[in-house]
Amino acid sequence: MVLTAFSASAQDIQLPVPRKNAEMTLYQALQNRASNRSFSSAPISDQILSDLLWAAQGINREDGRLTAPTAMNTQEIRLYVCREDGAYEYIAKDNKLLKVSGKDLRGDVAGPQAGVADAPLFLVISCDLNRYSRKNDHTKVMGAVDVGYVSQNICLACVALGLSTVPRAGMNQEVLREELGLAEDHLLLINHPVGYKK
Ligand SMILES: Cc1cc2nc3c(=O)[nH]c(=O)nc-3n(C[C@H](O)[C@H](O)[C@H](O)COP(=O)(O)O)c2cc1C
Repeated sequence: MVLTAFSASAQDIQLPVPRKNAEMTLYQALQNRASNRSFSSAPISDQILSDLLWAAQGINREDGRLTAPTAMNTQEIRLYVCREDGAYEYIAKDNKLLKVSGKDLRGDVAGPQAGVADAPLFLVISCDLNRYSRKNDHTKVMGAVDVGYVSQNICLACVALGLSTVPRAGMNQEVLREELGLAEDHLLLINHPVGYKK
């Protein structure tokens, strides 16, 4: 029991402090945002990953609120990093990656669109509807809108960091739900292959 707990936490990754800085202006990033589906296999450093995750939905205020808005500050969005060494959930408050699977799930996130599977990592955005006190069509829509904000943050931060991406709805839902341990009412909506343009 103790050993299991120790090895699980030993595989978590403490990310470098995010730099929260880029030379590119917001308007330059908007001008250059475009979907890319062809990636070099060059790895992404944990520093760049930390910078990107903070932009996606890091904490930007002392009260724990995030770079991306959420309906009623529900903070129901979960962000996963899938790369060769496994899959991790981004824990913003600790700036940490919590290991959730030891498998390389990139092929399952790419699904039938195998061309994007070369990306060194994928960000997978899900929405935990259990965070809402009431679950109905309205909260489903709110959750999907909130996923969109995180996705757009990722699109723009990728440009600013010299990376490229494409927001994608396609993925192997069944395998990912199982491997990421997603409960019922946890929507798996969008993923982003992230890498340097080929
Ligand atoms: C909700 C959503 C789902 C998408 N799903 C996919 C997808 O599964 N595969 C893909 O290659 N592109 C996908 N895209 C990217 C769009 O095809 C792309 O944004 C569109 O062609 C416009 O091109 P641009 O992003 O370069 O402006 C998706 C975009 C959105 C917003």
